[in-house]
Amino acid sequence: MGRQTLLLGQTLSFEGSPFERGPDAARHSASGGVLIDRGLIVAVGDGAALIAAHPQAEQVRYGNALICAGFVDAHAHYPQTAIVASWGKRLIDWLNSYTFPEEMRFDDPDYAADAAQLYLDLTASHGTTTVCSYCTIHPHSVNALMQEAQSRGQRLFAGKTCMDRNAPEGLRDTAQSGYDDSKALLERWHGVDRLSYVITPRFSPTSTPEQLSAMGALWAEHPDCLMQTHLSEQLDEIAWVKSLFPQARDYLDTYESHGLLGARGLYGHAIHLEPRERTRLREVGAAMVHCPTSNTFIGSGLFDMDGLMREGQRIGLATDTGGGSSFSMLRTMASAYEIGQLRGRALHPAELMWLATVGSADTLHMGDRIGNLAPGMDADLMVLNLTSTPAIAQRADRANDIWEALFPTIMMGDDRAIHDVWINGCRR
Ligand code: GUN
Ligand code: ZN
Repeated sequence: MGRQTLLLGQTLSFEGSPFERGPDAARHSASGGVLIDRGLIVAVGDGAALIAAHPQAEQVRYGNALICAGFVDAHAHYPQTAIVASWGKRLIDWLNSYTFPEEMRFDDPDYAADAAQLYLDLTASHGTTTVCSYCTIHPHSVNALMQEAQSRGQRLFAGKTCMDRNAPEGLRDTAQSGYDDSKALLERWHGVDRLSYVITPRFSPTSTPEQLSAMGALWAEHPDCLMQTHLSEQLDEIAWVKSLFPQARDYLDTYESHGLLGARGLYGHAIHLEPRERTRLREVGAAMVHCPTSNTFIGSGLFDMDGLMREGQRIGLATDTGGGSSFSMLRTMASAYEIGQLRGRALHPAELMWLATVGSADTLHMGDRIGNLAPGMDADLMVLNLTSTPAIAQRADRANDIWEALFPTIMMGDDRAIHDVWINGCRR
């Protein structure tokens, strides 16, 4: 009992998807409360009623700040932290010029450990309480991030990036060693505390058919694991995939024909999809992950959020750092909004917040544990200051409802808007 904490402020949660039900799918309370006990949310409701019912709980008063679920970043590359915002390249040149040289540095376990620490500091300071990250081909790059998250009590999804071709010497494994190393890491980390292993073939161009098959076999042996990869990000990349896999019906087929299409698959970017690919992704219930700051920064294209949502696809939101240009899911929501505008569909703030929390959690098949405020869910929360800069404050001051109050922070906010973060029931 003595360990209960009652957070008081505005609260925002979801009872359904605003893409299906409109903004009414959200539950907002101007004077709400969230009761947490150790790592779990125990109750969500009216602040005064919770005070009366739990007088012994320690109270943390946030005033007008907005208590929400912590952000869930469904696709990121922690080893690219140091090359975020690198100038002037498109995807393949960007990988060769910036990404691969930086990922080579993870050969040094100490370098990986420092990067893991910095990355989890940066993401938490931006309100992100769960990430699904690629590591490098080095097994210790996985150990570094898992150990760091474990010591913080943080939920984490991560896996060893496998590549056995079209990558420099020093960044290649083999079909066999990629399988063996991934399996050993999976056995060491998957299901330990709040950690989950993710089978991670980088993308078709950097894996031989043998490696894709080996990854498919590993997934078949561990069907409860997620599998993450990249799909149809840039037109040059798609043309390259077609030349590397002449028999494939399309890009997705390079995965599908090697056992790498399934409901627990996460397909990053998914911009330039063919009708068959859309149909198959929906049929199997696979997830696509929208990475808007990356898609504009690397010049990839405009994700079809509206059309894909109407088809009933499972979609999450992600930074894709360091192809993405920000660690902030607020900035990522702003970018998703701008891409929506360019495609003729203004995403509602409820839809943007849902994508960054519930939607991303659903892509990780964790919607019952994270990404929302409800009794029994993990106490991973963040508290948004809706007046974090003078420009935002003067706009929010005129708001007539929570959406008008929140939207300036979505569009203009950054880590200064993150008033507080709770991970596993502990204040950061
Ligand atoms: N495709 C294959 N690898 C990567 C990567 O690291 N970042 C992005 N944005 N796309 C990729
Ligand atoms: Zn990526």
